[in-house]
Amino acid sequence: MFLRVATFLSLLPILALIPIAEARPESYAVWAADSAIARGQGNGLSNGVPLDSYDDGEFQWALRLLYERTGNTTYFNWIETGADNIVSPNGTIGGGYNFTAFIQDYLRLGPTWIYLFQETGQANLKTAIDTYRSQLNGQPRTVQGQFWHKLVYFNQGWLDGIYMGEVFYATYTSVFDASNATAWADITMQFELMFENTKQLPGAPNNTGLMYHGYDFSHTAVWASPDRGHSPEVWDRALGWYVMALVDVLELAPPNSGALKATLLRILNVLAPNIRDAADPTSGVWWLVITQPGRALNYFESSGASMYIYALLKAVRLGYVQDADGSIVAAMKKAYNYAVENWVIPNSDGTMSWNNTVSVGSLGSTGDYEYYVSQVVDLNDLKGIAAFVLASLEFEQLP
Ligand SMILES: *[C@@H]1O[C@H](CO)[C@@H](O)[C@H](O)[C@H]1NC(C)=O
Ligand SMILES: *[C@@H]1O[C@H](CO)[C@@H](O)[C@H](O)[C@H]1NC(C)=O
Ligand SMILES: *[C@@H]1O[C@H](CO)[C@@H](O)[C@H](O)[C@H]1NC(C)=O
Ligand SMILES: *[C@@H]1O[C@H](CO)[C@@H](O)[C@H](O)[C@H]1NC(C)=O
Ligand SMILES: *[C@@H]1O[C@H](CO)[C@@H](O)[C@H](O)[C@H]1NC(C)=O
Ligand SMILES: *[C@@H]1O[C@H](CO)[C@@H](O)[C@H](O)[C@H]1NC(C)=O
Repeated sequence: MFLRVATFLSLLPILALIPIAEARPESYAVWAADSAIARGQGNGLSNGVPLDSYDDGEFQWALRLLYERTGNTTYFNWIETGADNIVSPNGTIGGGYNFTAFIQDYLRLGPTWIYLFQETGQANLKTAIDTYRSQLNGQPRTVQGQFWHKLVYFNQGWLDGIYMGEVFYATYTSVFDASNATAWADITMQFELMFENTKQLPGAPNNTGLMYHGYDFSHTAVWASPDRGHSPEVWDRALGWYVMALVDVLELAPPNSGALKATLLRILNVLAPNIRDAADPTSGVWWLVITQPGRALNYFESSGASMYIYALLKAVRLGYVQDADGSIVAAMKKAYNYAVENWVIPNSDGTMSWNNTVSVGSLGSTGDYEYYVSQVVDLNDLKGIAAFVLASLEFEQLP
């Protein structure tokens, strides 16, 4: 009897561990973030080598919100490690950063560094932040004033650039330069010009009232339309970057930011119902190429969907969009349920994987339908996982 009890007791710690090892966190936001961290994603390194990557910037934003939600310092430390892998002790920026290439994508780590600087006061971060800010002062522009996406993309504005460059620009201005009316007007103009030059107009083929991927003000790119030089398709992730930028900048805009809030609210209130209406009626999610629903090789893409869920639920929660009949929230819930059922893959080690995120979409080549649908679809692409963490953070605080 005594022996049997002792044996039983000695097994208790093991028995107690089994359910813990197998149980997944109740929160999908936690589960997705912990799984990416367990895989070593988003810490400033790519195959062990430092890389200035906007994927990390997006994930770090999600981890910051998750840290604020849970108080789990693992998330804060992961963000800090990510910054330490890019910013040297004297404040120079590594990870392949090239100031004179004027690439907006690089700047997406900026909001993370500003946050860490506010929390820790580390001087090297401020040096790096100011380097990013001075890149914007030299960033080439169209004659209308839109930043080029990169120096090599002559006169081109891409929706992606608004999330990469302008969220940093707005964060910087709100923290260090809040009375700079010129900067606020400039940020407002970046959003506005992008919208006016890329929104689908009535009469456009397969009009959804959404925004094409980008435009070339010089009309020299092979894909530039005769009218505004816009690219031919609405690519789901480009629009996702843009709407996330709308809600994130609205949230930080101070009262003295001129026309910024009114402008962003106006644009958001055009896009939000159009995004709701562009969802596939059966699944509730969106085609990779939104302008070509159901066409052969098109598919439901998981990063864009997650970005819309995050942005639109946040827009309703903060009162930026009135959802009087509840149809926007209902559409985002339907999309979220599809995501959880179809794109979340439980692994035997207790982590989850994330499916169906397209690896890339660029206007550096033909910009046509065939281009978009032929890009690699990845498992565990951080751009998609980060967006799913953000979508889950919003979904999990629905009333
Ligand atoms: C914090 O997150 C880590 C994984 O990212 C997890 O292993 C740990 O259990 C969490 N801690 C708490 C107190 O929840
Ligand atoms: C700053 O640190 C980097 C990396 O450690 C080094 O390459 C660079 O020479 C240093 N710059 C100055 C001005 O000390
Ligand atoms: C940085 O970008 C500029 C402009 O595109 C280019 O000429 C230069 O070679 C790049 N430097 C490095 C180290 O790649
Ligand atoms: C204010 O913003 C403008 C536009 O970005 C910039 O050129 C200028 O240097 C800024 N002023 C100060 C004092 O930072
Ligand atoms: C409109 O959508 C249909 C259905 O996806 C597609 O076959 C067609 O190519 C699209 N037309 C244009 C001009 O994009
Ligand atoms: C990911 O999705 C693709 C296409 O839907 C599917 O073929 C593949 O099996 C999925 N991957 C996993 C690991 O389930």
